[in-house]
Amino acid sequence: MLFKKSIPALVAEAKEIGEGTLKRTLTSYHLVALGVGAIIGAGLFSLTGIVAAENAGPAVTLSFVLAACVCGLAGLCYAEFASMIPVAGSAYTYSYATMGEWVAWIIGWDLVLEYALGAATVAVSWSQYLSQFLSGFGIHIPNSLLHGPWESYETINGLTETGIINLPAIAIVCILSLLLMKGTAESSFVNNLLVIVKLAVVLIFIGLGWSFMNPANHSPFIPTNTGEELLKSGEIGIFDFFKEGYFGEYGITGIMRGAGVVFFAFIGFDAVSTAAQEAKNPQKDMPIGIIGSLIVCTIIYFLFSFVMTGLANYTQFENDASPVTTAFAVTGYTFLNQFLMIAILTGYTSVILVMLLGQSRVFYSMSKDGLLPSLFSDLSRKQTPWKTNLIFMFFVSAFAGFVPISDLGHMVSIGALFAFSLVCIGVVILRKTDPNAHRPFKTPFVPVIPILGVIVCVLLMGSLPIESWERLGIWMALGIAIYLFYGKKHSKIRNKQR
Ligand code: ALA
Repeated sequence: MLFKKSIPALVAEAKEIGEGTLKRTLTSYHLVALGVGAIIGAGLFSLTGIVAAENAGPAVTLSFVLAACVCGLAGLCYAEFASMIPVAGSAYTYSYATMGEWVAWIIGWDLVLEYALGAATVAVSWSQYLSQFLSGFGIHIPNSLLHGPWESYETINGLTETGIINLPAIAIVCILSLLLMKGTAESSFVNNLLVIVKLAVVLIFIGLGWSFMNPANHSPFIPTNTGEELLKSGEIGIFDFFKEGYFGEYGITGIMRGAGVVFFAFIGFDAVSTAAQEAKNPQKDMPIGIIGSLIVCTIIYFLFSFVMTGLANYTQFENDASPVTTAFAVTGYTFLNQFLMIAILTGYTSVILVMLLGQSRVFYSMSKDGLLPSLFSDLSRKQTPWKTNLIFMFFVSAFAGFVPISDLGHMVSIGALFAFSLVCIGVVILRKTDPNAHRPFKTPFVPVIPILGVIVCVLLMGSLPIESWERLGIWMALGIAIYLFYGKKHSKIRNKQR
């Protein structure tokens, strides 16, 4: 038997107000800000330079557009669910209503990878920028305190050493977790400030940089991939094309591989849906929050990457730890470099904040359903799930403090893509099983959009290293064991429907 939640019951549950429930404080403006807060971060400031240098050249702009289309497909599906089932918990809750408890548990467990590890990944990147920022004032954090024990770095004497712990990453996770425990309204206020600073400096970069662009840097816009040329003229076969490593090194395939990498830059738009239960008018505001933040970020990413590759030649970004400042140096406004750093730091901070918020809301919902112990849904006097925040403060800190960033980043992408695929499938299922349900926002062209969404997500998952799949398998096996030993026995829906 499939144990499912009924949508009317979910909607009724979402309408409950009072002690023991989350507070409705967020408007559509706050939701877009929450989305932008979660989206613009390490992906834009770190990956743009890497992808331009290694995969796409100036056409990194097109990689962003391609990645935005992938996310747009899933975003439209998220928007239908979020307006229909405006309950905290996002993809987890939608799966519970469509595909039953098993899938819901799997997706809820999977979201830990996206949100908790997402926060850890960005925290690690944050600490690198902090150290660069502080060194501008003559303050140097020892390298061993910026890297975990499985990460090596080069000393000034050219020696290779391994780190001890990433202390600043742990510090930022702890500070933001404590803020979240204080209250959603307070966190939202801080997030709004961070988003304003981040947006202001991003716009300054685009505005000031625009007139300093050198058109020669954009030419050729799509650098040639010699393999693609040889393939076209029949000199090599498709097998050689992949075998010889031509795929993804500039040309059209470079734009595609670049899209797979910068996909990370869009992760977070779905975090808006985890706050559905705190939205004042969720049926109208959730689609605006999700789609609106995706659109705002796509425009910004396009312009930012266009200006960046116009200021400096893409080849200059090779192995460059701070490509944004390299590009900005061309303007001569180097005194603004520290402001740029502040924007980058605030950008990262808001991403970590919203990711941590999303994580606690997913576990809140899972605990409310009995799949996790009740301590995860215990609310403080300020109506925040503070015990969850506290537990994740330790969990995320452990990853941020000790695990290398590339391992973390791949886990985040695979976790997000898996969740997106299930949400797309869920839309099609619910249209069949409950065609007459009230849908304030409808995904257009169903089933084409959701099916395309699943296909592109699976393709992107396929491009990730095999280790990410193994780790996903291990994480899921652990989750299934917890479900069998705890969730299954304590599930409220299962006990009610049996
Ligand atoms: N989209 C987020 C970032 O780029 C995860 O930092």
